[in-house]
Amino acid sequence: MTGGISIEGLEVRYGKLEAVKQLDLSVRGGELVAIVGPNGAGKSTTVRCLAGLVTPASGHLFIDGINVNKLSPEERVRLNLAFVPEDRGIFRRLTVQENLKLGRVAGAKKSGSGLDLTAVTSLFPILGERQTQAAGLLSGGEQQQLAIARALLTKPSYLVIDEPSLGLGPQVITTVYEALRKVRDDYGLGILVVEQSLRRVQKYANRVLILREGMVRSEHAVDASIDFAELEKAYFGVE
Ligand SMILES: Nc1ncnc2c1ncn2[C@@H]1O[C@H](COP(=O)(O)OP(=O)(O)OP(=O)(O)O)[C@@H](O)[C@H]1O
Ligand SMILES: [Mg+2]
Repeated sequence: MTGGISIEGLEVRYGKLEAVKQLDLSVRGGELVAIVGPNGAGKSTTVRCLAGLVTPASGHLFIDGINVNKLSPEERVRLNLAFVPEDRGIFRRLTVQENLKLGRVAGAKKSGSGLDLTAVTSLFPILGERQTQAAGLLSGGEQQQLAIARALLTKPSYLVIDEPSLGLGPQVITTVYEALRKVRDDYGLGILVVEQSLRRVQKYANRVLILREGMVRSEHAVDASIDFAELEKAYFGVE
C-alpha cells in the first residue's frame, strides 16, 4: 500500500536530548489518527518532522509512497500535506480574507479535494462574517478555525494539526472537531491530530497512539469495543 502518510523509525535529537525514539506511524485517507501524550512527549517534534520543519536524526517520512525526507515544507504542501502548527501560524496583520487567499494560491494549481472557499466557509461560518477583519483581532477559537480553513484551501489529502483545542472553550472545540469529522467523512481526508487529552479525541479518532518520553507506548483502534479505562491507564502509565 502506498497511499497515506507514514513515518518509519523516526529518531529526533536536540543536542543530547532524544526527543523521539523509533517512532512508527501511518495515516490513511478517510481516517483520523490522534497522537496523545503529556507535555514534552515529543508530539510537536513528530508532526513538525512530517511538515519539514524539524530534521530527523534518522528514519523515513513518506507521503503517498514518496520519501519526503529531503523535501522542503512547500514541496510537501504540493504533495498534498497541510500542517497547522501549535501557534496556528496565521498572519495577524492580514485580514481573514487575505489569510484565506494564501491557502487558495497554494491550492490553485492542484486538483485535490473539492474544498473551495464556499465549502470552508460553510464549515466555519464565522469566517464569512469576519472577512475584512484583521486576523490578529479574532478570538483564539476563530483564529484556529481560520488556520484550519487556510490549510484546507491548499487542497490537501492529509491534514496535520498540532493541539487544535489548545486554550479553547468546549463549544468551539466541538465546532473544530465536527469540521474535522466532516472533511474526513465527506472529502476522505486523512487527519493526524496531536492532543494532550484523550477525552478530546475519543469521539472522533479512528486510532489513538499514546506517546510518552518520545516513544509510542501503545496504539489503539477506536471502535465500539474500546475500553477507555484501559486507554487512560496506558496514558498515565499505570501498569
Ligand atoms: N527546538 C528545540 N530545542 C531543544 N529542545 C527541544 C526543542 N523543541 C523541543 N525540545 C524538547 O524536546 C522534547 C519534546 O518536545 P515537544 O515540543 O515535541 O513535546 P510535545 O509533546 O509537543 O509537548 P507539549 O504538549 O508541551 O506541546 C521536550 O523535552 C522539549 O523540551
Ligand atoms: Mg507540542
